[in-house]
Amino acid sequence: MIKENIQIFNTSDELSENFTKFLQNLLSVYPHINISLSGGSTPKQLFNYWSQNNKQNLKLDWGRISFYWGDERCVPSDNEMSNYGMTEKYLFKNIHQIQTQNIHRIQGENDPTIEAQRYAKLLNSNLAVYKNTPCFELILLGMGDDGHTASIFPDQMNLWNSENDCVVAKHPETGMQRISLSGKVINNAQHVAFLVTGKDKAEKVSEIIKNRSASETLYPAAKVNPSNGFLYWFLDKESAKLL
Ligand code: 6PG
Repeated sequence: MIKENIQIFNTSDELSENFTKFLQNLLSVYPHINISLSGGSTPKQLFNYWSQNNKQNLKLDWGRISFYWGDERCVPSDNEMSNYGMTEKYLFKNIHQIQTQNIHRIQGENDPTIEAQRYAKLLNSNLAVYKNTPCFELILLGMGDDGHTASIFPDQMNLWNSENDCVVAKHPETGMQRISLSGKVINNAQHVAFLVTGKDKAEKVSEIIKNRSASETLYPAAKVNPSNGFLYWFLDKESAKLL
């Protein structure tokens, strides 16, 4: 039985404000939070909210947060496709309390297979390990309109079930290689939060939340079910309109 909490917001700022309160609550429980960030465009809305409101004292103790990524494109960090590069531009450049020693990027410029192994080793040494798998306090996920999450795509569901903590995936259209957490790490987290906005996601959001058992054979996002944790959906009204 999945333990999930679904919240729907009118605006992306409202979503970001409530996600920030959620993160503040986690910081009142955990002395340090290892967060795995998602890529793509949705996190920009959150990063912009944090950057615009940081001076009004967001009450986020940045020094107690370490940043990792759930996936990265296999490109150098200064490439416009880089998830780290996007985060640096929209978050790290604007919030100076974030300490560089707490930023652990996936090195997209490296050989993908070697980097997947390096990053998995890093996670196993830096994070708590539970059931022989690194355990994030919080994993942020986005969802594509095809039901992919992190960089596990519907045509590569085998990667979700990999015995490895990190896998090498390939974008089904562009062929671009990506490094991604596998399902065993994602479902080993204590808290997993989907941040999903936009009407193009509404169909999959509805399909997955309303009919998870049928969806989980089709879409990686439907397989997110933290075995000893909680799943949260932070949705805007557009992405939730078919619920
Ligand atoms: C990536 C992501 C990916 C993303 C979804 C949603 O590297 O692209 O990690 O899983 O979260 O594709 O992307 P948008 O937020 O751009 O819709």
